Amino acid sequence: MPSLNHARALESIVRDVARQTVLPRFMKSVRQHKSDGSSVTQVDLACQKALIERLPELQVSPFIGEEMSPRQHRSCWQDGAEGLWCIDPIDGTTNFANGIPFFAISVAWLVGGEPQYGVVYNPITDEAFYASKGHGAWLNGTPLPLRQPARSLSSAVAGIDLKRLPDTLLTALVREKPYYSQRNFGSSALEWCFVAAGRLDVYIHGGQAIWDFAAGRLILAEAGGCASDLAGQPVKSEPIGKQVVVLGANASLHSQWLDWLKAHG
Ligand code: IPD
Ligand code: CA
Ligand code: CA
Ligand code: CA
Repeated sequence: MPSLNHARALESIVRDVARQTVLPRFMKSVRQHKSDGSSVTQVDLACQKALIERLPELQVSPFIGEEMSPRQHRSCWQDGAEGLWCIDPIDGTTNFANGIPFFAISVAWLVGGEPQYGVVYNPITDEAFYASKGHGAWLNGTPLPLRQPARSLSSAVAGIDLKRLPDTLLTALVREKPYYSQRNFGSSALEWCFVAAGRLDVYIHGGQAIWDFAAGRLILAEAGGCASDLAGQPVKSEPIGKQVVVLGANASLHSQWLDWLKAHG
């Protein structure tokens, strides 16, 4: 069973790699396009490589990283049932490449697809969110959440990422805005952590891949928050294909949010 020390040791490696590999190249990297149209920079690749070199210091396991090929994703997933490092080397690549100071390095260790410990680190604000299963969630040593979430949807600050949401739901969200105010920061890993911290009260994101949520999902759960898909089912650990995720910061707000989405989807 991993302890909080595992998460803290991971935090230290992720901080090192971010400071050496990512931060010095902020605003100096050019965005390129992958075959699926999404963005990547040389720094995403360098950070993934550096993490693959360092993580065996903690745990010798196969790796699945966003910037590997789809074929590698499938074979790593099969090889990693008993232990797998899941890496998003830069979550928020578009922000990173455009000089927007909001992105993170996200790493989780999974067993049977389930996160055991994980870290999401924002090198600009020097905020490390981390959690270990059964041992709580933390931000730079302070337990999460930092504040209690809103009690009603109408007073909630919502994280809304409109990409890949069903059309009817998209229209309803834009027209009716059932929350107090909404934000979209461009790094889903950090958005999960913001829900965990109580900075966001509810969240929805269309189509996420496992590296977008592996660490954030554990951090939210360990902070006492709830996550599901649009049917109210748990967010599945799947490397291939993307799923819509719905988050609420506690059980009551999650059910209010989910009920509204179901009624308008
Ligand atoms: C993206 C970011 C973004 C989200 C996209 C993700 P990437 O991850 O998390 O906020 O809207 O769906 O793909 O590609 O920058 O690692
Ligand atoms: Ca990407
Ligand atoms: Ca991502
Ligand atoms: Ca990424």
